[in-house]
Amino acid sequence: MLATHGEYPFPIPSGWFRVGFVEEIAPGEVRPVRYFGEEGVLVCTESGAVQLFGAHCPHLGAHLGHGGSVEGESLRCPFHAWRFGMDGACIDVPYAEKIPPKARLRRYPTKVQDGIAWAWYHPAAGAPTWDAPDIPELARPEWSAPLHHRWEIRTRNQEIAENTSDPAHFGAVHGFGQAPEPEIQFDAHTYRSVTLSQVPKRNGGVATSRLEVTWHGMGLGVVRSTGDFELLVVGTNTPVDETTVDARFSFSVNTEKGLRPDEGAGQAFIAEAIRQMEQDIPIWENKVFAERPVLCEGDGPIGRFRSWAKQFYATG
Ligand code: FES
Ligand SMILES: [Fe+2]
Repeated sequence: MLATHGEYPFPIPSGWFRVGFVEEIAPGEVRPVRYFGEEGVLVCTESGAVQLFGAHCPHLGAHLGHGGSVEGESLRCPFHAWRFGMDGACIDVPYAEKIPPKARLRRYPTKVQDGIAWAWYHPAAGAPTWDAPDIPELARPEWSAPLHHRWEIRTRNQEIAENTSDPAHFGAVHGFGQAPEPEIQFDAHTYRSVTLSQVPKRNGGVATSRLEVTWHGMGLGVVRSTGDFELLVVGTNTPVDETTVDARFSFSVNTEKGLRPDEGAGQAFIAEAIRQMEQDIPIWENKVFAERPVLCEGDGPIGRFRSWAKQFYATG
């Protein structure tokens, strides 16, 4: 039987997903968003607390992202002015004494860390089973302010994450020579690939470069280059629905190592990361998900990756 593009034998994965960057959300802002195949509303209160809710009011169904407003630390519905606290509970009905106990917005666990607003998604609204990811470089002054690049990709998170476990595509898709074998470790909700390679220096000699890719569930892949060049790519992939992923690369460089994001080696690294992503995209957008792939020696840990990935599809 022929497989069809866009059909996957699993639902949208659970996990922490980026739903905003702090520098893009102002206090008092109420923004309609669509993630996880659901309508949402992203709110930043007057004190700067960020929270993702389900979009629709439990009263008569108004969309709070269209005309809803922040009042202090609460969100006011545009239709009949009910107000909701950041825990989702209704705290005021302007024309009634008694607040119905079921008057509550769906609330996604939300956390702001290192300038990124993360929301926890679980198809059955289950509680987080691990902590929101931490990217310590983003809190340090020597790392440059992130430069963001965005793509909307017709694929699933799993295809993007699987790329790191697929050494054979680096030659064919990205034009690498004989890529050194990465060392890959799977551990609870994370998996890490480390590649050491010798790169020629401009003034002669060779330097060892270390490239580490760490996935935190299906929503975040952090690429760290260390050695002579210290660079960081924070790849955040958020499912829009069952067929589309909102993917961002956020680039930072270590300015203490003499790097700048807009010139020389820093700029070249960023351009190369974008080039590689744009080589992968047409493959992802047109491939089918091969549930029983025919693998051979040299295909690396694709089977182990898929066993690891199963944990994000548990619906219980
Ligand atoms: S629909 Fe929100 S207050 Fe009535
Ligand atoms: Fe790739």
